[in-house]
Amino acid sequence: MTRILLLGGTTEASALARTLADAGMDAVFSYAGRTAKPVSQPLPTRLGGFGGPEGLAAYLKAEAISHVVDATHPFAAQMSRNAMQACAAAGVALCALERPPWQAGEVDSWIHVDSIDAAVAALPDAAARVFLAIGKQNLTQFGAKPQHHYLLRLVDAPDAPLPLPHTTVEIARGPFDVAGDTALMQRHDITHVVAKNAGGIGAAAKLTAARSLGLPVVMIDRPQLPQRHILGSVAEVMAWLSHSGA
Ligand SMILES: NC(=O)c1ccc[n+]([C@@H]2O[C@H](COP(=O)([O-])OP(=O)(O)OC[C@H]3O[C@@H](n4cnc5c(N)ncnc54)[C@H](OP(=O)(O)O)[C@@H]3O)[C@@H](O)[C@H]2O)c1
Repeated sequence: MTRILLLGGTTEASALARTLADAGMDAVFSYAGRTAKPVSQPLPTRLGGFGGPEGLAAYLKAEAISHVVDATHPFAAQMSRNAMQACAAAGVALCALERPPWQAGEVDSWIHVDSIDAAVAALPDAAARVFLAIGKQNLTQFGAKPQHHYLLRLVDAPDAPLPLPHTTVEIARGPFDVAGDTALMQRHDITHVVAKNAGGIGAAAKLTAARSLGLPVVMIDRPQLPQRHILGSVAEVMAWLSHSGA
């Protein structure tokens, strides 16, 4: 019997959930539970971690899961590693639904870095106004450059004091558009953008806005993962499911 675990947290995961539900497939959607009000899904939904790869392997067995689709964010590397390990241990088929990384165009001014710490180091020493478009994780490291004013865009209002002395918080949930992001950056006199190379459409508007305003973007490259079966679209995942017994 086919039963799918869909690891979510991205626009693409939500699109796949809709397609699986429309096809009447037996699937469970999983959220880490990072946001207060996650987008509701047309599938039975569970919330919270599994307890590492061992916990996930036990869940796969208990729930008789036959296929896992890892549609987590490209920076959710721990979850992706756990999924690989647990599926190998439990003998469950796994694929990743992964969007290609963004590429700089000719007129873009991107500084490529491979870590959060390198992104901090890439910011200037003189006080700047930085759109820190990386969500709520990893803010602490930017405390090493407290001279900057940081514009943060978060899904939920922070429930604890922020680790940065000069911040403006914008509460918003994507997808975002170019006109809105251009106006946001102008309103806050942004001089630099820091972004994770998430890929996809929903978060790309800030890059187009930065290009039109001539702003430099510190682009954090994706974490490296072991080789895995990567598919690029919902249609490819549906084909993989039908070819692999679903
Ligand atoms: N990292 C980002 O920049 C980013 C951006 C947008 C959305 N997201 C989404 O936010 C969630 C958390 O991201 P993260 O970077 O914190 O992940 P992470 O560092 O790779 O994962 C940390 C732990 O969170 C739990 N977890 C993560 N994704 C889960 C899921 N879909 N269902 C159940 N448990 C999950 C797992 O806990 P256990 O070990 O206990 O199983 C995992 O070991 C993911 O669903 C991701 O798609 C992340």
